[in-house]
Amino acid sequence: MKIIKTKRELQQFALEIKRSGKTIGFVPTMGYLHAGHMSLIDIARAKADVLFVSIFVNPTQFGPNEDLDLYPRDFERDLAMCTEHKVDVIFAPEPQEMYCSDNTTWVEEKKLSGPLCGASRPCFYRGVTTVVAKLFHLVMPDFAVFGWKDAQQLLVIKRMVRDLDFPIEIIGAPLVRDTDGLALSSRNRYLSDDERTRALAIHRNLLTARKTVEEKGLAALEGALEEARQGITASGGRIDYVTALDVDTMEEAVSGSAGLLIAAAVFYGTTRLIDNEVIEFSK
Ligand code: PAJ
Repeated sequence: MKIIKTKRELQQFALEIKRSGKTIGFVPTMGYLHAGHMSLIDIARAKADVLFVSIFVNPTQFGPNEDLDLYPRDFERDLAMCTEHKVDVIFAPEPQEMYCSDNTTWVEEKKLSGPLCGASRPCFYRGVTTVVAKLFHLVMPDFAVFGWKDAQQLLVIKRMVRDLDFPIEIIGAPLVRDTDGLALSSRNRYLSDDERTRALAIHRNLLTARKTVEEKGLAALEGALEEARQGITASGGRIDYVTALDVDTMEEAVSGSAGLLIAAAVFYGTTRLIDNEVIEFSK
């Protein structure tokens, strides 16, 4: 497995691979890898000739009072996991390598990134789209894999790729959970045992809301969401949002919507967790 630290070496290596006619698959991450990340890597591995993974805790997607400095890191463990899963190239730049100190150019999606995490974390998606656009220019992948764990991020990236004509296929990978139902996340390591047990309420309540809407239709949505909010609050969670939107437009779901994204962001202690359920409506 090749470890690359500079943009120049990365781009040159990617170009060589492209010129040799091989396909490039790409999985961008912020490291501290877990089985959720590895599922994306396995999907990409099965499809690509050469598989690139980036490990970069991107400072531009963290707000001033967020957890950039605390964000968990374990590069050696990440490398061992990537070796085991047959990754070919790791790109792990330092922040000063990735961004010029006087960077003044941003990539911004202006609609799908508005609600949910975009509303509570104002610069978050601008940071994500900018770094992913830069990584796409460097890696030049044929396809890239993103997880449904971050459903809004996946939709925003798909829209960016469409709007800016990146010749890259974006593949969505299923959300991976722990055996007890908690959505896997690098941030789970911040949770105390007690908080972790309480946090199981997120999945439990979203699942109940999902079942209610599947059985009774959109008319039951508001009641189901309110019940989920109450259940999550009763578990000790501080709700940022528990809501539902049309999964394509990020607007209010209507009877013609193709699917519904039921999404939650909840604090347990100081740790903010996100989770979701997606219902596809058959037409
Ligand atoms: P990170 O949180 O490290 O996640 C990297 C990728 O793994 C994302 O596509 C995310 O959706 C996926 N992922 C994380 N947990 C998952 C789970 N439990 N099941 C399935 N997929 C999961 O998302 C980011 O990093 C960053 O915003 C990034 C796109 C790398 C840009 O900096």
